[in-house]
Amino acid sequence: MNAWFESIAEAERRAQRRLPKAVFLAIRAGSEAGLTYRDNIDAFSELGFAPHVGGQFAARDLATTVMGLDLSLPVILSPTGVQAVHPDGELAVAQAAANRGTAMGLSSFGSKPVEAVVANNSKVMFQMYWSGTREVMVRRMDRARNAGATGLILTLDWSFSHSRDWGSPSIPDRMDWKTVLSFAPQVAHKPSYLREWLRSDTPVPDLTVPNLAEPGQPAPTFFGAYGEWMQTPPATWDDIKWLREEWGGPFMLKGVVRVDDAKRAVDAGVSCISVSTHGGNNLDGTPGAIRALPGVAAAVGEQIEVVLDSGVRRGSDVVKALALGARAVMIGRPYLWGLAANGQAGVENVLDVLRNGIDSTLLGLGKASVHDLTPDDVIVPPGFTRRLGSAE
Ligand code: FNR
Repeated sequence: MNAWFESIAEAERRAQRRLPKAVFLAIRAGSEAGLTYRDNIDAFSELGFAPHVGGQFAARDLATTVMGLDLSLPVILSPTGVQAVHPDGELAVAQAAANRGTAMGLSSFGSKPVEAVVANNSKVMFQMYWSGTREVMVRRMDRARNAGATGLILTLDWSFSHSRDWGSPSIPDRMDWKTVLSFAPQVAHKPSYLREWLRSDTPVPDLTVPNLAEPGQPAPTFFGAYGEWMQTPPATWDDIKWLREEWGGPFMLKGVVRVDDAKRAVDAGVSCISVSTHGGNNLDGTPGAIRALPGVAAAVGEQIEVVLDSGVRRGSDVVKALALGARAVMIGRPYLWGLAANGQAGVENVLDVLRNGIDSTLLGLGKASVHDLTPDDVIVPPGFTRRLGSAE
């Protein structure tokens, strides 16, 4: 089979074929009935285009900047914490992003140390949840800054809902031999997945989170860290402002869908927000992120950078988001599927699919640059937009 895939849908199919069921389901996730998960994707298909003929541009410029970083295309790899997909995990993701001229978010629940990830890509934004004491959070931030992370992402849209109609994956607390044996029937049918791990330095997925280790202590387990997070009282707007000041550099608040929250984020001094539903993993019934984007962009787009994530599956989706006010998008599952399908080359493949799709959409729309897109370039059906938290 040709290792190259032509679409994100094919990357997903290959990931499903290659991964043990529990690992594939851990990526798919989507809370409760999956309403938001589906709407994130379906909403993009409600938007149309009005293409031009004649007077188009022979070359199109896809480059932009976000959080002070030069990007060769308006697509960033969003932080994701479950990377038992491939033994190279975030190291492959970082290298792929670097090779394609873009940035990545490194989850604090990621599986590789920030120092090693930054060695593969100088454009790394470290992502944190509001978890632990202020002293602990400062230590984690300092470590990321010293390693060379250029920005901080604070993600707040998580409500600890664990009931999923389609069945949650079972994620073990640690990988001892008993656990390995219990997964054996699933893994036995996935020889290429197994081969990759056996060939690596860590023959089974290491379910610890090295970027949350306290000095001199071993890395906590995924669920140990999750417990700390659950027990931490949620952040106030003063906490957000405090964290932003402590970091002192480019700062993204990820997970904003309401106009009033976006305005509070501006008041807290953030540099960027991501209009996001955590890929449909937060409060089910939240509209798809792209529906919330126009209202948020209109309210704060002049003051801070606005990016969008959740549901982007095509280059044309990226163009739709940019036309409706985003500066760039972030992707989650698509690059994890690429990583599962073909390691680092699979992540590069995903970025190439998106780059080609953005480029051909700009050609069709008669645009020379991603910066020339406006809401006039997309057909927005009546009732599409949801201005959440706004009196209009
Ligand atoms: C995530 N996401 C996420 N976000 C974050 O800030 N920190 C994290 O650790 C994770 N972990 C994570 C794991 C998995 C398996 C998924 C699917 C997602 C959310 C992620 O950054 C992004 O918001 C969504 O994935 C975007 O939606 P799409 O592109 O997956 O539709």
